[in-house]
Amino acid sequence: MKKLRVGVIGLGMGRYHIAGYQTHPNAEVVAVADVDPTRLAEIGDKFGIARRYPSGEQMLHDEKLDVVSVGTPNKFHKPLTLAALEAGCHVLCEKPMAMNADEARQMLAAAQQAGKRIMINFSYRFTEQSMALKRQVDAGVLGEVYYARTIWHRRRGLPGFGGWFSQKALAGGGPLIDLGVHRLDLALWLMGYPKPVWVMGSTYNRIGSALAKEKGVAFDVEDLAAGFIKFDNGATLEVEASWAANIAEKELMETRLFGTQGGLVQRNVEETYKFEAELYLERNGAQFDMKLHPPTPPVPTPMYHFVDSIVSDAPHIATGEEGLLVMEILDALYQSAAEGQPVKIRDGRTQ
Ligand SMILES: NC(=O)c1ccc[n+]([C@@H]2O[C@H](COP(=O)([O-])OP(=O)(O)OC[C@H]3O[C@@H](n4cnc5c(N)ncnc54)[C@H](O)[C@@H]3O)[C@@H](O)[C@H]2O)c1
Repeated sequence: MKKLRVGVIGLGMGRYHIAGYQTHPNAEVVAVADVDPTRLAEIGDKFGIARRYPSGEQMLHDEKLDVVSVGTPNKFHKPLTLAALEAGCHVLCEKPMAMNADEARQMLAAAQQAGKRIMINFSYRFTEQSMALKRQVDAGVLGEVYYARTIWHRRRGLPGFGGWFSQKALAGGGPLIDLGVHRLDLALWLMGYPKPVWVMGSTYNRIGSALAKEKGVAFDVEDLAAGFIKFDNGATLEVEASWAANIAEKELMETRLFGTQGGLVQRNVEETYKFEAELYLERNGAQFDMKLHPPTPPVPTPMYHFVDSIVSDAPHIATGEEGLLVMEILDALYQSAAEGQPVKIRDGRTQ
């Protein structure tokens, strides 16, 4: 079978996309693009990719590609995705899908119109623990899931402090749209992506703004956000995300589901990006705990999954529809935080 020709735009996270594609025998990363010439040269050399472009647009104009990864700052996800779809490519876009739900809606509509795929890099699904838990939930082991809590906090972990991550005009928001988006997706995916009907959100910028003032850098996004989401099936989900919080842990990620027959947790261990998973069950009058035991079944990279779905003509996970639903929740949480009251969501739009 012929290899899919892949192009990668934005070579921060983009370098992991290249490595991810290189795990699939039917994919070849033939071109890369980045506005930073130093990074372009460094990553081009590292992965031995000769065809290098100073912009995604130029790459799309000059190359005939099948698949494009968009790994730029959030502001450029929409224009580069639209350009890639226009050029006849399937798109794997980094999270968050876009700056807001309006942009995400346009991206999804363009993909549908072009008859091309769009996948969002919700990479925290692609861990052994997440995949194993998903199989348990789908098998009905938890019974009916009625409540969930999903968090990602950092004691002091402001990405590229003062750079694009800290600027609303480039990022769309702070840790909620950056970290919260991963934990939200994970909880929603495990819960079967129920439809949100209203949210209550609150954002804060106390520690981040004080640090920014001290260092004389830009910082106009939240440093901590919390939210409560109600779904049409009656279930609720609590989300928390921060880059700067006075907690013990350097890095704390945890997603819990509460069901009528059992509960689960997926959390990071020892403040690292390694995870563990447990189930809490009641069986024949006794309470049992189950822990996922290593070695765990291996999972593919998101890039392998995307390519494999294309070549085998099978549906992929982490769809544009799910990316859009997350953006709708984020929009509503930010709006609720700004207005200081709950916000209703009807047909995907805030009221
Ligand atoms: N899935 C994950 O786990 C994960 C982790 C980190 C970041 N991300 C996401 O990846 C994206 C990039 O984040 P990052 O940490 O790599 O940022 P980064 O700043 O390290 O890298 C972004 C790169 O994009 C380049 N760039 C900027 N504007 C561009 C444009 N218009 N066209 C082409 N290149 C451009 C920059 O020069 C830079 O090399 C963000 O959307 C972020 O949310 C995802």
